[in-house]
Amino acid sequence: FKIPTAKNEPGNTYAPGTKERETLKAELKRQSEMVVEIPVIINGEDVKTDTVKQVVMPHDHQHVLANYSQAGEKELRDAVEAAMAAKEAWANMPWEHRASIFLKAADLISGPYRDVMNAATMLGQSKTAFQSEIDAAQELIDFLRFGVECANQIYQIQPESMKNIWNRTDYRPLDGFVLAISPFNFTAIGGNLPAAPAMMGNVVVWKPATTSILANYYFMRILEEAGLPKGVINFVPSRGSQVSEVVLTDRRMSGFHFTGSTDTFNTIWKTVGENIAKYNSYPRLIGETGGKDFVFAHETAQADKVAAALVRGAFEYQGQKCSAASRAYIPASMWEEVKGKLLEETAKLKVGDVRDFRNFMGAVIDKPAFDSITGYIDYAANSEDAEIIAGGTYDDSVGYFVQPTIIVTTNPNFKTMVEEIFGPVLTIYVYENDKLEETLDAVNTASIYALTGAIFAQDRQAIIHLERRLSEAAGNFYINDKPTGAMVNQQPFGGSRGSGTNDKAGSIFNMIRWTSPRVIKENF
Ligand code: ALA
Repeated sequence: FKIPTAKNEPGNTYAPGTKERETLKAELKRQSEMVVEIPVIINGEDVKTDTVKQVVMPHDHQHVLANYSQAGEKELRDAVEAAMAAKEAWANMPWEHRASIFLKAADLISGPYRDVMNAATMLGQSKTAFQSEIDAAQELIDFLRFGVECANQIYQIQPESMKNIWNRTDYRPLDGFVLAISPFNFTAIGGNLPAAPAMMGNVVVWKPATTSILANYYFMRILEEAGLPKGVINFVPSRGSQVSEVVLTDRRMSGFHFTGSTDTFNTIWKTVGENIAKYNSYPRLIGETGGKDFVFAHETAQADKVAAALVRGAFEYQGQKCSAASRAYIPASMWEEVKGKLLEETAKLKVGDVRDFRNFMGAVIDKPAFDSITGYIDYAANSEDAEIIAGGTYDDSVGYFVQPTIIVTTNPNFKTMVEEIFGPVLTIYVYENDKLEETLDAVNTASIYALTGAIFAQDRQAIIHLERRLSEAAGNFYINDKPTGAMVNQQPFGGSRGSGTNDKAGSIFNMIRWTSPRVIKENF
């Protein structure tokens, strides 16, 4: 059989007057008028628990969107046992049948459930329709279709054989279960973290971020509708510390698929390290974590392109992307022009409820995020090393709204130039044109991260030089483009240093981590 060739899913524009906009609006209205009861899902069964928590809209935080049951110790243990019980049948299911479940899920999202996924992502995570379409529709579908294609490529990789000897590789799943912990900021990542290991025949315990749980829950339901057998993926909204105690340290945990903060990933490694002797096998720990992503303009760059990239890179989805442009280096000779365009463009950005399609930004995800981001803004406002030239204001009376904020600093190691903020805050350092090398050193050393970065230059020799000098500073490197918006199969995504294990989401590099191959030699 031949696996269908995957293509990137085309996106809807949701332009005024289109049918797509009208049906999405109707779905937004429908979801805004109901309160969804979200269970824990173990072995395909809905489980309600005594601990029920609310999910609110970030842009209207008195509006309850859903209630979810929180899994406790018993449910987490049950989820591990359900996964282990489902393991043998799932691993032995013919590959084309496993594949068909994920391809069908992709088609269900592409067709009948597109509005459901987009509306849940808009309302639950405060994404605009345009940002949601890229995430909950296009990228999620791409992860499923390209994931199947990558798995299929892996299965074709076979060793040489000789006369009277047939060598072959049996791509078994890992020998226990996989724990997936997903973040709020991409519905697509929430889908990919459990789906990628499952495609390769693994069983999964999935803890979604509770702030994105509505869209994650609908994805789980779509997998069930597509025919995912009971127990293959178990959906357990829960507290991180309890998952760590009960699931992460279970001796059968053999793989961990994570996107989230660097601090959390560090704690995971530490916990696994402390327990290493008790695992049945060395767990694979695959994680994509933080970023402090740069835009570096060379004196030959086009100022308008730099400014446009900064506005989109820093402020789309309120800067809540690990890839967001959050520090920029602009040559003094170009600064006035870049500054003028930045102020002009930033002033046009509308912030508000994402159900109003004219808004460019929604709210940040929750109160802790709001407090953390605004803490950085206040720090800059009170510092002698920095000046806030745009935004700097915020208001959480209705939703967690933070205005797009631009800080200019005279210190290349200023706090907001170095630390991940995960909000709509861009910090700019203006460098003297004759201080190029020192400034490149600062780009390389200012942060602990190495996720994404962009350079802007017209001169080819300058591009070559910058690419070389910044060779370790980003796992995804952009030339004359913003540092966000990597597409599955076009720019496999991930970074090193404090940004993760660089296993490139949605690519063969990632998928290959979910198999523990057995090589078989047979003599004739
Ligand atoms: N993959 C996402 C991006 O590149 C995070 O923006």
